[in-house]
Amino acid sequence: MPDLKGTKGFQYLEGSRFDRISIEKRQRPAIAPVEPFKHYPRAGKIPLPRTWNIAQENLTPLLQHRRSLRKYNSEPISLEHLAFLLWASQGITGQAGKYLFRTAPSAGALYPVETYISVHSIEGLTAGLYHFDAEHFALDRLTEQDAAEAVAQACLDQKFMAQAAVVFLWTGIFRRAMSKYGDRGMRYILLDAGHICQNLLLAAEAVGCGGCPIGAFYDNELNNLLQIGGEEESILYAASVGGKILSGADALPL
Ligand SMILES: Cc1cc2nc3c(=O)[nH]c(=O)nc-3n(C[C@H](O)[C@H](O)[C@H](O)COP(=O)(O)O)c2cc1C
Repeated sequence: MPDLKGTKGFQYLEGSRFDRISIEKRQRPAIAPVEPFKHYPRAGKIPLPRTWNIAQENLTPLLQHRRSLRKYNSEPISLEHLAFLLWASQGITGQAGKYLFRTAPSAGALYPVETYISVHSIEGLTAGLYHFDAEHFALDRLTEQDAAEAVAQACLDQKFMAQAAVVFLWTGIFRRAMSKYGDRGMRYILLDAGHICQNLLLAAEAVGCGGCPIGAFYDNELNNLLQIGGEEESILYAASVGGKILSGADALPL
């Protein structure tokens, strides 16, 4: 098997990176678009009931109200709420032999995704970059300077991100999954990151906050901020989280 850099999975990730120079020249891909919904006009249509009771009290409102939020109030988030968000996205919840299981599923229970946070406004926590130590349920302080502006700039200058109380940054440590699954491992790593982000967004909703998933970033700029090389470990996904401005809804609930 080729080593990491020689794999199709790694080459795909590398070939789809954004950077400030190539993004200027970027054109829409020459791939024809398709309709957003798939229709089976000849199939019998069975209307579904909307009267379920299962978990209605707990999960339904979170799913119904989650919306990507890009306007935040200036209230800091409490440390307890931040801890809950970290637990909900990547907390350890069980053990079977040598395997420690977490709130989000992971292919082969290999957990290739690492969590970092850029703290801007959390009660009792100095602004800066931190790594989440899932094993000890603790934060490792990496820097003591507010990185909110730098993170927003590295995310294609999406200015709202600098107003978020905290930005979650998820990286992949590729060998964790690819040493077992090869190229297919890259697929699993990206899927894992999606599960983690969705857990975070629902948890944010549960504590009266909102979040926005972020896939647009200059990979190497975020890697540099986190002081990771981009080969063994590289940024995959991010999400900003902050308190809600109640009138700031972008979409009407259906
Ligand atoms: C993989 C992925 C990447 C995204 N990247 C961004 C982003 O960089 N900036 C942004 O403002 N929203 C981003 N979004 C949010 C989408 O725009 C949003 O999910 C979509 O408009 C649907 O709205 P909803 O999340 O409120 O349901 C991203 C969403 C996903 C799933």
